[in-house]
Amino acid sequence: MFIKKHLVLIFMLSFAHAAFADDGYRLWLRYDKIQDKNTAALYTKQLQQLLFPGSSATIEKVKAELTEAFTGLLGKPPVGTKQVTANGTLIIGTPATAKIIATLQPTELNQINDEGFVILTAILQGKTCTVISAKTDIGILYGTFHFLRLLQTQQNISTLHIVSSPKIKFRLLNHWDNLNRTVERGYAGISIWDWHKLPDYIDKRYIDYARANASIGINGTVLTNVNANATILSPQYLVKVAALANVFRPYGIKVFLTARFSAPIEIGGLKTADPLDAAVQAWWKQKVKEIYTLIPDFGGFLIKANSEGQPGPQDYHRTHADGANMFADALATYNGIVLWRAFVYSSQSGDRFKQAYEEFTPLDGQFKSNVILQVKNGPIDFQPREPFSPLFGAMPKTPLAMEFQLTQEYLGQGTHLVFEAPLFKEVFNADTYQKGKGSTVAKIIDGSTNNFSLTAIAGVSNIGNDINWCSHPFAQANWYALGRLAWDYDLSSKQIAEEWLQQTFSNNAFFVSAAYNIMLHSHEALVNYMTPLGLAHIMYNGHHYGPMPWGNTLGRPDWNPVYYHKADSAGIGFNRTATGSNALAEYKTEVSDLWSDSNTCADKYLLWFHHVSWNHTMRSGKTLWNELCYKYYTGVDSVIAIQQQWNTLEKFVDAERFNQVQQLLNIQVKEAVWWRNASLLYFQTFSKMPIPSKYEQPDKTLEYYKSLRFPFAPGN
Ligand code: GCU
Repeated sequence: MFIKKHLVLIFMLSFAHAAFADDGYRLWLRYDKIQDKNTAALYTKQLQQLLFPGSSATIEKVKAELTEAFTGLLGKPPVGTKQVTANGTLIIGTPATAKIIATLQPTELNQINDEGFVILTAILQGKTCTVISAKTDIGILYGTFHFLRLLQTQQNISTLHIVSSPKIKFRLLNHWDNLNRTVERGYAGISIWDWHKLPDYIDKRYIDYARANASIGINGTVLTNVNANATILSPQYLVKVAALANVFRPYGIKVFLTARFSAPIEIGGLKTADPLDAAVQAWWKQKVKEIYTLIPDFGGFLIKANSEGQPGPQDYHRTHADGANMFADALATYNGIVLWRAFVYSSQSGDRFKQAYEEFTPLDGQFKSNVILQVKNGPIDFQPREPFSPLFGAMPKTPLAMEFQLTQEYLGQGTHLVFEAPLFKEVFNADTYQKGKGSTVAKIIDGSTNNFSLTAIAGVSNIGNDINWCSHPFAQANWYALGRLAWDYDLSSKQIAEEWLQQTFSNNAFFVSAAYNIMLHSHEALVNYMTPLGLAHIMYNGHHYGPMPWGNTLGRPDWNPVYYHKADSAGIGFNRTATGSNALAEYKTEVSDLWSDSNTCADKYLLWFHHVSWNHTMRSGKTLWNELCYKYYTGVDSVIAIQQQWNTLEKFVDAERFNQVQQLLNIQVKEAVWWRNASLLYFQTFSKMPIPSKYEQPDKTLEYYKSLRFPFAPGN
């Protein structure tokens, strides 16, 4: 009897545990039952019935989402009504579909754009109602997701007055996914696009991908790698692309493709891909027509040309503008756009920092109106920290899109917890001074500085087919942050982190505040243990996993870490002042003045712009060498603090994700120590100074770190 009872208990316990396990698949759309009884009771009262007329593919998706959300959060689906018969009626519709909203005539609708929405508390027919309205069904979709976010984060919904429109027109994910399903710089499994089974097999993931994106306002996806394969443009593949576009359309998501510049040769049988050649132009026009026949709302092309071996117009002695404009002409009839990438650096010697500027600023004003230049946030390549790309302040006649990297190629890849919103905000808030003070990067990107309506923000996706999409449970937050900031770059990192935590993990106030603290400090911690004080690109060659500041064997100087840090017996750092490469001259003087003097330049950018002697006195009063040691040690200490903080949160998190994060933090601590020790031991060969004795000394030799090899590091 005792044994039997015992077994029942064990069974019950394990069942209870399983009920709380969470594999992370549902992302921030979990809709778990609201535990707080008062809130649940209040919401039930405030949401007694749902008046939701109209029907369209999008509206059907909204209704399905509401049913799922209400059933989960409140235990039952919404009760439909045709009239307002009770307090607590949720009314959803455009004035065209919902007559009752037309009678209300909310003036707020005049303040939003076509994707915007309003959420208002109103008295209608004597009853207190909540109204979600918009000009379009897509606006309704966004408004509904916003409302569901309020419920999931348990906000007060009794007096709502929300008027919201996206600040950026194209809010995009860029997948670096290959047709064989490998993902360049992907750390979360293989590509979610199962090309082989498309178009006939629609994986449920495609729908959940669309839901997740729509919930944060992402409205476009580039399906294929910038290092492009022309096969995607073949008829066989275009029907597969069309099948995905059909899934995404009701969610307001447009499909884009990368176009390989040499496709007319590779799949068109032409002898050239010269953008000024009439046959080439005709080929692209025909190809674009074929695409729009299959996908009437196709978004356009993203193109990497004459960069890292990709073909491009310069192969024919034409300019980037010649190349981009050829695509622009073909797409213009259909309102398609060209996202032309500015990530170029030729093999000519010189400072790589300067090259995009040198190639593109002479072309300012030469691009057709449906071309937008997509610029990485910094001048080099998604380093842990970079100053903003000088292009943002230097192309007043060309719309510029922001490209951030969500996949953590240089940010600890699959194993490090790094919340990128503070990095994104640092770039948005930087002032280019293009039209005087206040011409922040955000104000360039949103078109307001130079009056452009074509605006875009792209995030290089961190999504793969891992069960939780992004591998590290916290990496989901970067996808989330990209969407939220592309909608409104004024949102704070704090708000984004908190609402993400509440939806993804728990509404418990103690948990949210502690986990937010972890997220807030995570980026700076990584900068400190990898590339403090403005160091950059000292990662291992090729796969970029781990430190390799000694790397100097690759064919081109700018592929080698030693090119970036320039450490020698005199000091460390890249002199980009007038006595060096003078890259600083690419910024407005108000900006270059901030950085051109090594005594006043912010510590975080110091080695980006100066070759500084090991004895240089820093703001802190320490020598540069001691400051470097301090930063590396602080970085490791911060991760240990993060690890300790996470360990106090066990009772708030399901066992599955708690353990995942715990194990990943253990790896992160080890790797942070590796980064610190390898880097300091190497730089010490030049400084010839001791690591201050108060610090725990490296327990391995530089030779040991140099001997490490990772032939199968992922993402390469
Ligand atoms: C980086 C990255 C490449 C990528 C390139 C790009 O260099 O390592 O994998 O192709 O950026 O953005 O085009």
